[in-house]
Amino acid sequence: MLDQITKVHDETRQGEAFAPAADHTQTYNKKFYIESYGCAMNFNDSEIVASILNQEGFGATRNMEEANLILVNTCSIREKAEQTVRKRLTEFKSAKKNNPGLLVGILGCMAERLKAQLLEEEKLVDLVVGPDAYRSLPGLIAAAETGHKSVNVLLSREETYGDISPVRLDNNGVTSFVSIMRGCNNMCSFCVVPFTRGRERSRDAHSIVREATELFNNGYREVTLLGQNVDSYYWTSDDDSETVTFAMLLEKVALIHPLLRVRFSTSHPKDITDEVLFIMAKYENICNYIHLPVQSGSTRILQLMNRTYTREWYMKKVERIREILPDCGLSTDIICGFCTETEEDHQETLEIMKFARYDLAYMYFYSERPGTLAARRFQDDVPEEVKKRRLAEVVELHRSHSLESMQQDVGKTFKVLVEGTSKRSDADLFGRNDQNKVIVFPKEHYQKGDYVMVEVISCTSGTLIGKAVH
Ligand code: SAH
Ligand code: SF4
Ligand code: F3S
Repeated sequence: MLDQITKVHDETRQGEAFAPAADHTQTYNKKFYIESYGCAMNFNDSEIVASILNQEGFGATRNMEEANLILVNTCSIREKAEQTVRKRLTEFKSAKKNNPGLLVGILGCMAERLKAQLLEEEKLVDLVVGPDAYRSLPGLIAAAETGHKSVNVLLSREETYGDISPVRLDNNGVTSFVSIMRGCNNMCSFCVVPFTRGRERSRDAHSIVREATELFNNGYREVTLLGQNVDSYYWTSDDDSETVTFAMLLEKVALIHPLLRVRFSTSHPKDITDEVLFIMAKYENICNYIHLPVQSGSTRILQLMNRTYTREWYMKKVERIREILPDCGLSTDIICGFCTETEEDHQETLEIMKFARYDLAYMYFYSERPGTLAARRFQDDVPEEVKKRRLAEVVELHRSHSLESMQQDVGKTFKVLVEGTSKRSDADLFGRNDQNKVIVFPKEHYQKGDYVMVEVISCTSGTLIGKAVH
């Protein structure tokens, strides 16, 4: 099914299993295997879960066969995401036949949405744990080990896991995610996240700065501050003596060290302020790249989506970004075929794409999610073949824009943070420039974690190809 078309997108990092280096696991007497689906926040949550489990004597393994506990951290954003997980859970269930003591648990958004259903009715899992209940995992595992029902899907207004140091599972040792908030208060009508992740809450600013500092001291050179809506970050200390906005937080993290790059995701067009843009302009190590999901180019559809901005407001925001940050990379999310979308609405989406000329876009067709405002209020009335055709048009237009954006970079020189060896050739390294574009270049004497000035010689639609300038 043509559900999503992307290159490297958070939501498409489906089913990756991660564990730290093998020797790290040897001090543990039990082993867990974890697969993560969905967005970067979910992957970061798996690292929090790993930290909690390590305390309990469980070490992570990449080898499912040797695990005593299999966990699947799941996503509910589109139907397809849930189907993939269901298939995987059925496979795990049959793995239990050869390994009778094996426990299988479901974590994350699908656990929250379906609650006890997968345990009680479908008997697919032994434990069900929602995104705010990971601290109760040890007790739930103990209960499941003695054959008891193990479900905790309580959402919290306070939980941020701020004091837990995530165990880095997907580890290139150079770039890392840091969650700065949880939940979402926005209620976009198509979206399941407010139901699966609960109310928005911001994490203690000091714990964020501490975590980013530790990462830098351990050799990391880039942090991405994560939240569903980072621009509404707002933290107040318990005694009300200190208040930190997103712009202030960005500055604090940027000041840790000039060699630590700072990125963030995701911005809601209604909340990103000039203040944030000016802080981005002020610090060289805050990357000039903004993910600004538009969803649709039609004001009527945006209203039905409850996005709270109009087409014109969005376009002004893009103009303001270009004014304050002339070379800022811009990416977006687009949903095709939302309820009642007409051909004219669709044309308006194509038009706004021509206006914004996104460097990167994540494009989906609308997938109705049970319980959301749209599912309750509107009919999912755009036929699937129309959704697919519109999505294909959006994808094709975007391809031409991204290729054009890549071609414009040929001849330019960028500062690249090296993330590792190129997948295609051991003789090449790859990294990203400020604008988040991937650049591949010959290794020479450079290493992971280095900043290298690279001149772009050619490009494909997804990658810049260059050589280091000395
Ligand atoms: N908090 C972020 C992104 C959340 S989910 C934001 O507000 O931008 C990532 C993307 O998935 C959304 O931006 C949207 O484009 C897409 N999405 C969310 N719900 C969807 C649905 N029901 N059908 C199709 N795409 C959806
Ligand atoms: Fe979903 Fe909207 Fe919140 Fe993003 S801002 S998580 S799309 S409700
Ligand atoms: Fe999916 Fe939940 Fe993230 S629904 S996109 S894993 S917040």
